[in-house]
Amino acid sequence: MTATAIKTSPALKTTWLKPGFAVEILDIDFNTATDEQLAEFDRLVNETAVVVVRDQALGASRVMSVAGRMGRVSAQHRTGPHPDHPGITILSNKRVEGKLIGVPDAGRNWHTDGTTYEKLGLKTLLYGIECPPVGADTLIADAAAAFEALPEARQRELEALTVVHNRATLIQKYNRAALSDSDAAKMVDVFHPIVVKSDIDGRKSLFVTNGSTKGVVGMPDEEAWAQVKGLINHATQEQFVYSHKWRAGDVLIWNDVGTLHLASPFDEDKYERLVYRVWVRPFATN
Ligand SMILES: [Fe+2]
Repeated sequence: MTATAIKTSPALKTTWLKPGFAVEILDIDFNTATDEQLAEFDRLVNETAVVVVRDQALGASRVMSVAGRMGRVSAQHRTGPHPDHPGITILSNKRVEGKLIGVPDAGRNWHTDGTTYEKLGLKTLLYGIECPPVGADTLIADAAAAFEALPEARQRELEALTVVHNRATLIQKYNRAALSDSDAAKMVDVFHPIVVKSDIDGRKSLFVTNGSTKGVVGMPDEEAWAQVKGLINHATQEQFVYSHKWRAGDVLIWNDVGTLHLASPFDEDKYERLVYRVWVRPFATN
């Protein structure tokens, strides 16, 4: 498949939001979708980096069933779990009786989800319930186009590099939760090439992130960080980025292989935000 190919199907109408990267499905309602429409949805989320569906009115169970079509939903015990559905993380600055109901500030730096899993292939689904009219955009960068834009000699050089990821690095960097030494010791290093290949179409992309990066194999830390930072800056230039402006009822799905993303800030004194997040791992993982 070429970067801009999109197969036409009578089951669903689609339009590119960013050609070759982000597609919007115009005519699916997840509460009433036919098997044929859902099969086409499955194909689109597998073959396209970013999929948007607007104007949905979904309960938490429906969000879970849509996510469950894409793989195995990953339980989120540590970060803002939904009281009835541990597969849903609540992203919100809302408070009930003075207590935050979810995570208020996740993902404010460019990053990739699922980097500390051994097996790659995570998909992220967000469902917007309350969305500020200004700010809070989700930005998603095309790490495949960014890799392809590099000179060939640089591509070959990068293909020889392996990044060390560690969940403890991520948690400690953002003070996400208190982490005891014994907890930290259980979070082992995970190694991924800095250039990864899509299981779907074989496209190569940069696989770099701010959060979990601990180092690069065989490289002094300072140099490793400069390399990774430089690649993140390269991949997140405007020409590679789709910026999602939220409306209540939006579903936004992306493949974490081939992308980086960032949550833009918003005026938290003025607006409330409530978004559900579900992480979906490949069916074959346990
Ligand atoms: Fe994220």
